Amino acid sequence: MSFSSEIQRRRTFGIVSHPDAGKTTLTEKLLLFGGAIQEAGAVKSNKIKKGATSDFMEIERQRGISVATSVLAFEYNGIKINILDTPGHKDFAEDTFRTLTAVDSVIVVVDVAKGVEEQTEKLVKVCRMRNIPIIIFINKLDREGKDAFDLLDEVEQKLGLKVTPLSFPIGMGYDFKGIYNLWENNINLFTGNSKKKINDTLEISDLNDSRLNTILGDSASKILRDEIELVRGIYPKFNKEIYQEANLHPVFFGSALNNFGVKELLDCFIDIAPMPRPKASEERLVCPEEDKFSGFVFKIHANMDPKHRDRLAFVKIVSGTFKRNTPYLHVRQNRKLKFSSPNAFFAEKKEIIDISYPGDIVGLHDTGNFKIGDTLTEGETLNYTGIPSFSPEHFRYINNVDPMKSKQLSKGIDQLMDEGVAQLFTLDLNGRKVIGTVGALQYEVIQYRLEHEYGAKCSYENLNIHKAAWVEPEDMKSEEFNEFKRIKQRFLAKDKLGQLVFLADSKFSLQMTEQKYPSIKFHLNSEF
Ligand code: G4P
Repeated sequence: MSFSSEIQRRRTFGIVSHPDAGKTTLTEKLLLFGGAIQEAGAVKSNKIKKGATSDFMEIERQRGISVATSVLAFEYNGIKINILDTPGHKDFAEDTFRTLTAVDSVIVVVDVAKGVEEQTEKLVKVCRMRNIPIIIFINKLDREGKDAFDLLDEVEQKLGLKVTPLSFPIGMGYDFKGIYNLWENNINLFTGNSKKKINDTLEISDLNDSRLNTILGDSASKILRDEIELVRGIYPKFNKEIYQEANLHPVFFGSALNNFGVKELLDCFIDIAPMPRPKASEERLVCPEEDKFSGFVFKIHANMDPKHRDRLAFVKIVSGTFKRNTPYLHVRQNRKLKFSSPNAFFAEKKEIIDISYPGDIVGLHDTGNFKIGDTLTEGETLNYTGIPSFSPEHFRYINNVDPMKSKQLSKGIDQLMDEGVAQLFTLDLNGRKVIGTVGALQYEVIQYRLEHEYGAKCSYENLNIHKAAWVEPEDMKSEEFNEFKRIKQRFLAKDKLGQLVFLADSKFSLQMTEQKYPSIKFHLNSEF
């Protein structure tokens, strides 16, 4: 197969949702269609179960699972599909944000009863910032939920998305009878026992077919005809180009658990979802079709075995082909590296591969060379952008408990920060180290891993900080900037790249500071 056909047949995407909306179940059903797994229940949920905060073994087990399910690749109708897994747990939101830099599109799962939830809003905001095309799957139609039109309104308003349904439910919950497929203009009826088998649906190709009255009854078929007319009247006609530009978002309805509406979603997805897209670097826009290889690290996963401290760096291939045992330039370190056993991912296993194409993810064994955001190329100096750090929600001082192990502690902290477990800030005033995280869970993970992987012990001290704001002065030499630095000295720190950060102790103090120093910009993420 030619290089360009290989690119055209790839679809790399992520499924995002608020926990419990059905992301794992949907992923599993997609894998069933692809023949990548044989039975339901094979994909383990990679979510940290509620209440697991102090169960370290559970955290470790979950880490193991998330390596296995980080990338789930399978073939469906000649299309190579790469699903990038995103942790649903809010304490790992940063991980999800970074994974979103490596996808070409996303599917957002929404629970029909709960509607648009908080985590979904946050994740979609990030997708919109990056212009990622979005498909919405409204799940759990076998249960009572909100009215379909109300949900479409909610998606438009809360997520700020322009939507157009490509399938529409016939009834809901107890009365759920099936789905009208506006993409293929046919009807699939819900038989209620399609949980195990797939393709167990009856097809009627025309909405005016009189068999509809026989099956649904006169009243339900009239409602359906009216609703579809309304859908066609209210919502814009689907247009693939506008969807791929992330300006129109198709909506599907179904029940992942009952395997209903999933095939419609998948069949349409492979038709409309974008193939690998060009990516911006600091230097230029890079196209997948270019013959020279380039890629970037979006995730680093520590090995489960503490005796071998190697890690797996996940690289998204942006352009050209990645080949085994070929020297590539590690741009930040300005040196060539060769990889003898790069991993490719197939459903739940990983295998050593010789060649990979744009859109694919390769896992590279790493002994500490990589940081998240690093670029690999065939020689050109390229730096891929778009992996910002966001302001953490929690801040604590980290202290060394065992003075004999200070080297181990700083090495451990450095490496865990490279992996993106949390963010490190060093106070300007006294050099004290502050760890910022999205959730409280990370502190326990860090403490546990420092002890078990690096032999170092740490303790934490609370620090009352509201947000970290990256500082951008209009003029580095201005009187105003100097005054800001003098007055706010206690609250200034450097992030891991040496960028200046203002650690505001309250929302009010951040607002006051912004007002007092109008020539300085304060950003809640590191890329501005
Ligand atoms: P997540 O990855 O987004 O967190 O959600 P997950 O797929 O784990 O699904 C959350 C719960 O919702 C699961 O139930 C799952 O069985 C259920 N679910 C998913 N899709 C549907 C659906 O279409 N209809 C209905 N009625 N339920 C659905 P659980 O009891 O939390 O877990 P489990 O014991 O079933 O695994």
